[in-house]
Amino acid sequence: MPTYVAAIDQGTTSTRCIVFNRQGQIVSVAQKEHQQIYPQPGWVEHDPEEIWKNTLEVIALARIKAKLSAQDIVAIGITNQRETTVAWNRRTGKPYYNAIVWQDMRTADLVNTFASDGGQNRFRQQTGLPLATYFSGLKLRWLLDNVAELRADAEKGDALFGNMDTFVVWHLTGGTNGGLHITDVTNASRTQLMNLRTLDWDQELLDTFKIPRTMLPQIRPSSEIYGMVSSEVLPGVPIAGILGDQQAALVGQTCYEPGQAKNTYGTGCFLLMNTGTELRESNYGLLTTVAYQFQNEPAHYALEGSVAITGALVQWLRDNLGIIKKSTDIESLARSVEDNGGAYFVPAFSGLYAPHWKSDARGIIAGLTRFVNKGHLARAVLEATAYQTVDVVRAMEKDAGVPLSSLRVDGGMVVNSLLMQFQADILNEPVICPRMTETTALGAAYAAGLAVGYWHNLDDLRQNWGIDRVYEPAMDEPQRQRLTRGWQKAIERSFGWED
Ligand code: G3P
Repeated sequence: MPTYVAAIDQGTTSTRCIVFNRQGQIVSVAQKEHQQIYPQPGWVEHDPEEIWKNTLEVIALARIKAKLSAQDIVAIGITNQRETTVAWNRRTGKPYYNAIVWQDMRTADLVNTFASDGGQNRFRQQTGLPLATYFSGLKLRWLLDNVAELRADAEKGDALFGNMDTFVVWHLTGGTNGGLHITDVTNASRTQLMNLRTLDWDQELLDTFKIPRTMLPQIRPSSEIYGMVSSEVLPGVPIAGILGDQQAALVGQTCYEPGQAKNTYGTGCFLLMNTGTELRESNYGLLTTVAYQFQNEPAHYALEGSVAITGALVQWLRDNLGIIKKSTDIESLARSVEDNGGAYFVPAFSGLYAPHWKSDARGIIAGLTRFVNKGHLARAVLEATAYQTVDVVRAMEKDAGVPLSSLRVDGGMVVNSLLMQFQADILNEPVICPRMTETTALGAAYAAGLAVGYWHNLDDLRQNWGIDRVYEPAMDEPQRQRLTRGWQKAIERSFGWED
């Protein structure tokens, strides 16, 4: 009987369960979107209980679709939107508050307070991260300061903190009946509470941020058997892999050698370059992060360029302006015109992340004349993704000291061939689309499958990778320079909007 590995991908907009075979091909997939809650400008929340319910539903549905019994699945891996922060009660299982999503900017004042004493980079050496609204530590501090009883419960040992991986694993392994309270090194590296060298919570940071250690999950490698699913959706199946979603995509793209990099086009864009077991500090606005840690091996690190809003801008055009009906309509609308008509869209909805790290930036559309129509705006929306990617690639090249020879891409937006061609044109480097673009779930499945011996080594995984399409650059240099100058002017105009 063939056997399979399942992965849960708990993402920003939806939760999916994907089942893979030994060749890394999809056998079954189920997906459920969850509500995006915007209580005030700059705030973004999710309902953790809705997400847990959806997780159970997608596992059940993926099993039904491919008629799989729990015995057909040898392991399950978890991957997740990183940084999104939830606190819940160990005895009741009830969240104290909605999950505060990574894009949320409510901690801007806390960021400024901590940065006023030592600057934005005061914790970079320990954590690889600048002070920014993005990371979990200050989101947790906000919860502790603003939610009645949370701090007292935490000090009694009753309140638990986690990112979505931790929350889902705790529930899958029994919840109030002794669920595992764990996370992996990649997720922990995004809290700004873990020391990148010791791979443990950093007491000095906990004291500075006033975070009780009792709330924090145990930090584990990304690939090992942590425990069994106790829930009836997959009883007895080992949970054997946990990776933040961008690190999972790096694993799914089989970027195991130093210098190999991938860019994932989802809600945002996340470019990660493997730097091996060596921790590289960035001088150009990138993050240093843990890439993965396989069982009984040292951690591998990565440099990361994170862009907050890319695919989310297409959704905004659909949901907030109604210019398109479905996200996929953007390509035909963009193809209705020759170029951007002079318009540039800087989607600084959550400030700007890498390489700028400006929480006072806000979205702008620049270069408008009466000539500009909705086709041009659709183009400007797509081009914004490509320009932001170029900005992080250039920073990555300066940090690495070598040019990137090509870019491996994945994620939902890579089906958009207009965007991919423009990406190659404006980057002036080939863009490589693999056959399997669901690399996030695949990476989590690989981590779990390696731990149980379903795959034996990294070569087994490398054999599953293959190219679907290469986009070669075809734009002339003067045009590339003219467009890039326009983007740079627009970016500068997005700074400094916060009151
Ligand atoms: O750091 C945020 C990132 O992990 C979110 O990824 O794919 O859920 O938008 P995604």
